[in-house]
Amino acid sequence: MKKVGVAILGLGVVGGGTYKILTEHREFYQKTQNVDITVEAVLELNRERALALGCPEEIIASNIYEVVSNPAVDIIVEVIGGVGVAREFVLDALNAGKSVVTSNKELFCKYSHELERAAKRNNAGIFFEASCVGGVPIIRTLLDGLQANHITSMMGIVNGTTNYILTKMTSEGTSYEEALKEAQRLGYAEANPAADVEGFDSTYKLSILSSLAFHTKVPYTKVYREGITKITAADIAAASELGYVIKLLAIGKQTAQGIEVRVHPAYVKKSHPLASVNDSFNAVYITGDAVDDVMLYGRGAGALPTGSAIVSDVIYAATHKEVKYSTFKNTAEAEKGVKFVSNFESAYYLRMSVIDKAGVLAKITSVFAKYNISIEEMIQKNADGDVTPLIFITHSTHELSIRKAIEKLKEYEEIANVDAVIRVVS
Ligand code: HSE
Repeated sequence: MKKVGVAILGLGVVGGGTYKILTEHREFYQKTQNVDITVEAVLELNRERALALGCPEEIIASNIYEVVSNPAVDIIVEVIGGVGVAREFVLDALNAGKSVVTSNKELFCKYSHELERAAKRNNAGIFFEASCVGGVPIIRTLLDGLQANHITSMMGIVNGTTNYILTKMTSEGTSYEEALKEAQRLGYAEANPAADVEGFDSTYKLSILSSLAFHTKVPYTKVYREGITKITAADIAAASELGYVIKLLAIGKQTAQGIEVRVHPAYVKKSHPLASVNDSFNAVYITGDAVDDVMLYGRGAGALPTGSAIVSDVIYAATHKEVKYSTFKNTAEAEKGVKFVSNFESAYYLRMSVIDKAGVLAKITSVFAKYNISIEEMIQKNADGDVTPLIFITHSTHELSIRKAIEKLKEYEEIANVDAVIRVVS
């Protein structure tokens, strides 16, 4: 039976889960995959952590050179995170001719061109299933399951932490801070949770996924990004009343005008399949020209779900001789001539605080009319003193029209504030 040695760089939440799966399932893989995979080395600054996981003393390496020069190591798993030492170590591994499996979306998103170059030079593989959507096999689905299709759109909940926070705020009225703390305790959040709640993590994932789906480089800098930090209990309550839930969505579309990529909170109709994706679960809804709609659903974060994706890559690398690289020209920037759409179409939820007096509504609707914005629904809440909250759901319009309309509305002193603007998906 073929023997394959693995090294794990970093034994945090995901590294620990990976170690556990690989060691506990060793015999299972011998039987089902006809390969004997053993963990030959781990690199972890916190020795106690490695010992507590059950790592034998002799496999705990003291530096990366010990790992990459170890002839028993064939595949190196990087679960350190970030783009500092992780980038150096992955390059060291590839330059030593070892295949790399990484869960590091920031690294892969920002440097896949560089990593792939090193991999090709050394005839090594670079695998990144765990970088996007945790345990959900989205990368392999795009590479090996849906490659018959022109993918026209992709819409997903791709961050477990923010989905967990929004779910807790919606269903239990938990405060944002409490829900975030719990997501951190459960090991879903990034080391710096701003990466999750400000939408960076989703942006990196959308850049990776849309590059694969649309067969062209979609740099993360082209992704429009908004996080969930401005979502209030008032918006969550209004969503519920109007028949929606709020989700942080990653949307990628291939249109006649160009590629549209955006990450932002959205009002999602309760009847939409993505509305019932809760807690740390993630889902991606993909449309292809041949297959029509496909939805993948599963845990987007956590030790074992992400470990599952890593180990599936390890098994793939261990059992496939041929190495596959990008289907597109993998460069740092987008290819010349590829257009990106920023004035995208959407419906909108707007919440504003206005002075409760005659003629205010007429002013608002005249601004909407000026920018060709049509109202689908409106709610006026009880006035709090002189100020009353007004809520609008618009029909589909353009991003620029809404922005211009809001600028115009802000000029009226009767409009005390435009409190919230959230895009709507029906
Ligand atoms: N922090 C990430 C999330 C981990 O919450 O989805 C998985 O990528």
